[in-house]
Amino acid sequence: MKNTRNPFILTPFVPKQYFCDRENETTQLCKHILNGRNVALFAKRRLGKTGLIRHCFEQDEIKNAFNTFLVDIYPAGSLKEMTSLFAKEVFSNSKAPGIQDKILRGLKSVQPKIAYNELTSTYSLSIGMGDIVQPEKTLEEILSIIDGMKKPSIVAIDEFQKIRDFQEKNAEAYLRTAFQKCKNIVFLFTGSIGHSMNNIFKSPDKPFYNSAVMMTINVIDRDVYKDFALKMFHSGERDIEEALIEKCYDYFDGVTWYNQLMMNEAYAQTDKGGTISIEAFDSIYEAIIAQQAFSYQELFSRFSSKQKQLLLAIAREDKEGAMVTSQAFLQKYGLGGASSSQTAAIALKKGNYISDNGNKKQITDLIFRDWLKKL
Ligand SMILES: Nc1ncnc2c1ncn2[C@@H]1O[C@H](COP(=O)(O)OP(=O)(O)OP(=O)(O)O)[C@@H](O)[C@H]1O
Ligand SMILES: [Mg+2]
Repeated sequence: MKNTRNPFILTPFVPKQYFCDRENETTQLCKHILNGRNVALFAKRRLGKTGLIRHCFEQDEIKNAFNTFLVDIYPAGSLKEMTSLFAKEVFSNSKAPGIQDKILRGLKSVQPKIAYNELTSTYSLSIGMGDIVQPEKTLEEILSIIDGMKKPSIVAIDEFQKIRDFQEKNAEAYLRTAFQKCKNIVFLFTGSIGHSMNNIFKSPDKPFYNSAVMMTINVIDRDVYKDFALKMFHSGERDIEEALIEKCYDYFDGVTWYNQLMMNEAYAQTDKGGTISIEAFDSIYEAIIAQQAFSYQELFSRFSSKQKQLLLAIAREDKEGAMVTSQAFLQKYGLGGASSSQTAAIALKKGNYISDNGNKKQITDLIFRDWLKKL
């Protein structure tokens, strides 16, 4: 029987006993926070940035000394939407004492409403977009409530590079000024490696220049991840061939999310007392692709025919990616002129379906790439 909890957690918050390594990074990040430094944490996608922040929030020296807030602004397209997400996160933080009351009394620029969820027996803040007339003012009020709390706070803003796409032209300058006024808050900014995060923090002519310590994370070391995976299997009275862990790690270049996904499925396919061998690689990966197939089909159907052609062609090139405007590539896949390919590539990149690898383009989601290859 497979009766224990699968120890390979796939949600952004990984409880301590299932969290792999990141010891140095955790120490470093906690040290900066305790020194009152703002931190800009940037790394490639899916390596574990958000997980690291949540893990730091769970460390005793942080948990006991700070109120912690994490808001993911990926869905926000404006300061107004960011403010609404932020207000909801702050309101729902049950660990910050009296926060709900403070928000209800402290917000003057909006009339917050409370929604009660009978299923979960919880209250949440309901601020309609139309209610936020002056997002700058509302955001300032929320920050001032947090800043005025007895304990200092950490405010982590995930996917911070999104501020570059906000409708308001002055969002960056405004946010910098608003954050600078806070005396009792450490800010953490996380984002994906790329032009935007670099430009926000490293350009001398930009408002956030030099405002945070830059920190990055890399893949978890191969042997360290291997030992972790073995330990997790053993704790569930199962075994796994080391070669299978290595094959998964290498196939996905060690990216944490894929490691965890493959090990989660490998564990699910192993009976208590059993051992899973390297031969199972294909069946594990097939199962994962099959789990995603429905959403990939749905996603794929929404692209224009040019975008579909381009995605299929890039997926068929090798791991390094494709030069999407080179004559050789265009001819090989019958893609026609360079300019229509370029236009399709720009749209695909904007949606993060493809990403840059030097001057080549790759499919961002490696599982999507392998699904495309099968079409
Ligand atoms: N140290 C870790 N130990 C175990 N699992 C982890 C660890 N770090 C991350 N994970 C797992 O990997 C997944 C991806 O991590 P996370 O969401 O933190 O990455 P990210 O860099 O923030 O990704 P994105 O670029 O998509 O925002 C998580 O859902 C979690 O399951
Ligand atoms: Mg993240």
